[in-house]
Amino acid sequence: MKKKFLALALSLVMALSLAACGGSQEEAPAEEGGETPAVEEGGSDVITVGFAQVGHESDWRTASTKSAQDVFSAENGYELAFVDCDNDSAKQLEAVRNFIQQGVDYIIIDPIVSTGWDAVLTECEDAGIPVIVIDRTIDDSDKYVSWVGSDFKVEGLACGEWLKAYAADKGITEINALVIEGSTGASATIGRTEGFKEVADREGWTILDSQNGDFTEAGGQEVMESYCQSYEGQFNVVICQNDNEAYGAMTAMDAAGVSYGVDGDVIIVSFDSNKPAVQHVLEGNMNATFECNPMAAPFVDEVIQQLEAGETPEKEIYMEESWFAAEDIVSEITVNGEAMPVIHVTQEVLDARPY
Ligand code: AHR
Repeated sequence: MKKKFLALALSLVMALSLAACGGSQEEAPAEEGGETPAVEEGGSDVITVGFAQVGHESDWRTASTKSAQDVFSAENGYELAFVDCDNDSAKQLEAVRNFIQQGVDYIIIDPIVSTGWDAVLTECEDAGIPVIVIDRTIDDSDKYVSWVGSDFKVEGLACGEWLKAYAADKGITEINALVIEGSTGASATIGRTEGFKEVADREGWTILDSQNGDFTEAGGQEVMESYCQSYEGQFNVVICQNDNEAYGAMTAMDAAGVSYGVDGDVIIVSFDSNKPAVQHVLEGNMNATFECNPMAAPFVDEVIQQLEAGETPEKEIYMEESWFAAEDIVSEITVNGEAMPVIHVTQEVLDARPY
């Protein structure tokens, strides 16, 4: 095991904790909450990685976890200690501190919330363990080597620009939107909310309400059920900040007798673009979906390999993302001065989706 930065004291702590755990872990199982899985002192070339994952709230999250488990495998020369933090910030900080105790070589964090990180990142720095942040951002500390993820504000802007062009083509002059937000304090929520609101404010649209659906199907359904009661007959757009919320929102609208999608009264869109959502777009149940790419792990692997070679990786690495729509009406939008294609979903497009 490469322990370039390990102090003797940490080795002792790890040896003791391994003795207490009494076993080896080829690949750490996906633990929810609970104790941080220990890493084993293995062969000399094994790179140990601790990953403090947000949780298991969505299909996107499942794809992100799978990507990490595939990349940081024994086959690829890694030993992964994986912790599912169950959307609990305190558990996530504890997981990172346990990784420090274990003396892993690298720590990956997908931060549940964007603030409250400087103290624990300082502890990582003091222990000499490089941190790589993925997906969501950390806004109150820069004590990490690299961040690999999405520009959430661009996603929100893209959604707004697509809606503007789509509404113009359909002759829709008034937009009364309901937003189902993701988890409070997550940079994915903050960016998507800001981006969409920027276009809404500019275009004079009404955002009737914007409530937290926690990035879950149950959360989306619950928020939409209450929207259907409070805003009956008043809304023509529902913005779901992830796919799973959209599935819940469709269930709630079905129950309330509200029609949606290509032939319905309400335009519904989502973020993430997992395969089931793209299938809904193909079938016309949803009007559009804006991708958030969960496959960060191969880029993190690259960052680690650069560090191993003594190189300096990029501080920020942006994932490539696409926008998908049910109808072949808007083929291009402009976001921050950049022209971006909107992909009309066909069976071929759906079949090519990787997750
Ligand atoms: O941080 C990424 C977001 O978190 C995804 O959009 C969502 O599905 C996930 O839970």
